[in-house]
Amino acid sequence: MIKLSNLCLLIIISHLTIAKIDVDELKCLVCKRTFDELKLKLDKLDPTLHTEIGGYQLDTEGNLKKKTVSQAKSEIVLSDILDEVCNAMDEYVRVTWKSNGTLAIVRMIMPDSSMNPILSDVNFITDDDLNKSLKYYCEELVEMYEETIIPEILNETEDLERTICQTKTNLCPLEPAQEAKTEL
Ligand SMILES: *[C@@H]1O[C@H](CO)[C@@H](O)[C@H](O)[C@H]1NC(C)=O
Ligand SMILES: *[C@@H]1O[C@H](CO)[C@@H](O)[C@H](O)[C@H]1NC(C)=O
Ligand SMILES: *[C@@H]1O[C@H](CO)[C@@H](O)[C@H](O)[C@H]1NC(C)=O
Repeated sequence: MIKLSNLCLLIIISHLTIAKIDVDELKCLVCKRTFDELKLKLDKLDPTLHTEIGGYQLDTEGNLKKKTVSQAKSEIVLSDILDEVCNAMDEYVRVTWKSNGTLAIVRMIMPDSSMNPILSDVNFITDDDLNKSLKYYCEELVEMYEETIIPEILNETEDLERTICQTKTNLCPLEPAQEAKTEL
């Protein structure tokens, strides 16, 4: 009897080891997907909408006008967007690609409410409640780096994801810049 339960324990332990997720890899994936989601939100901003930033300025006719900036240049608007961006992680699940076993996190439902078509190419990871941790890692990232991210958005930094996930936070391993982009 004792031997049998030991054997069971051994099987369980070895199984857990196989299912163990590399937290660093997960944090990198969360960072990348967070910037996908952020980009969606920034692209949705209407460039014609302006927001008041306090204070007054003269317009071309010499009239006193409230000072405004486009929404994409407003720190308050950007800060609100960053505060909300991690809610999108509720839509994500951890999976492995059937083709090569690589860990990924993917949307179940696409922003247009359709099912993500790649779901048939992946296996779901169902071992624990770490789906929730995606949002947790996202919030941790945003809280720690908001002061870094906002100036980069204001500065219209190209490839925000790469700048933040690789260069500024080291969450993802450095990859060479994509050459393909210049060919497009
Ligand atoms: C694993 O397969 C997916 C889907 O085909 C691909 O996007 C990904 O880059 C592959 N990962 C590796 C490490 O080969
Ligand atoms: C994580 O997501 C997968 C896929 O939807 C689901 O099967 C699993 O039950 C989820 N785990 C938890 C704890 O929510
Ligand atoms: C903004 O962009 C300029 C020109 O590319 C650069 O010199 C400056 O360091 C950038 N500032 C930030 C905060 O990224």
